Amino acid sequence: MSKILVNINGVDYSAESGKMVLKVANENGIYIPTLCHFEGIKPQGSCRVCTCKIDGRNMTACTTPASHRMVVVTDTAELEKIRATIIELLFAEGNHFCPACERSGNCELQALAYRYKMMVPQFPYLFPAKDLDAKNPKIMIDHNRCILCKRCIRRKLEPDNPSWFVFKNRGNKTQINLDHELTADFDDELAQKAMDTCPVGAIIRKEKGFDVPIGERKYDKNPIGSDIENKGVTS
Ligand code: SF4
Ligand code: FES
Repeated sequence: MSKILVNINGVDYSAESGKMVLKVANENGIYIPTLCHFEGIKPQGSCRVCTCKIDGRNMTACTTPASHRMVVVTDTAELEKIRATIIELLFAEGNHFCPACERSGNCELQALAYRYKMMVPQFPYLFPAKDLDAKNPKIMIDHNRCILCKRCIRRKLEPDNPSWFVFKNRGNKTQINLDHELTADFDDELAQKAMDTCPVGAIIRKEKGFDVPIGERKYDKNPIGSDIENKGVTS
């Protein structure tokens, strides 16, 4: 790949042509929040939390390839407002009862809500009636917490197998669905991978949710994004 110059927040950085803006920023110690993005799988740009001002337009950093002399701004008050509003909407349209969730402290949505100092959403809670699918011996799916990011569908847990997760229904009835026949013999490793793929507490390994006590989890200790912001420039 050829080398290009990308200006991020007023500073020129050398980058490989075609690398996504999100990656270029992260490699240079600049954090951009994400939810539907998962390292190693093709980005789909659906959550819009990574929206940045790119050459004057609001675009998703996870799906926009960097180009020579591109100008990127990652943190204006307008962008922060867009991100905070998306996070509030996700809280209002699902049933995210963080204190009772096994992923509390390890949840990207909760961690972003803390980062954006969300108190009470400006939108009314919808409290939708959603169920929980606990048929699989190793994992359960809690539809109440699913933000429909599709990470579990897009990530192949095993290279030679298609994903065992699919969407069913449409519109506001869309739900994640697990193929119970194919996943009847899910082993612990696959179950853990499935749980780690989910940014929230919608895929939970049975009997493992509290192995790490609340208070000692990833975002209990360090705010989301601090690993990127603290590492500085790497390339
Ligand atoms: S189950 Fe988790 S990974 Fe899958 S779509 Fe829902 S939130 Fe995303
Ligand atoms: S992380 Fe870029 S759109 Fe979701």
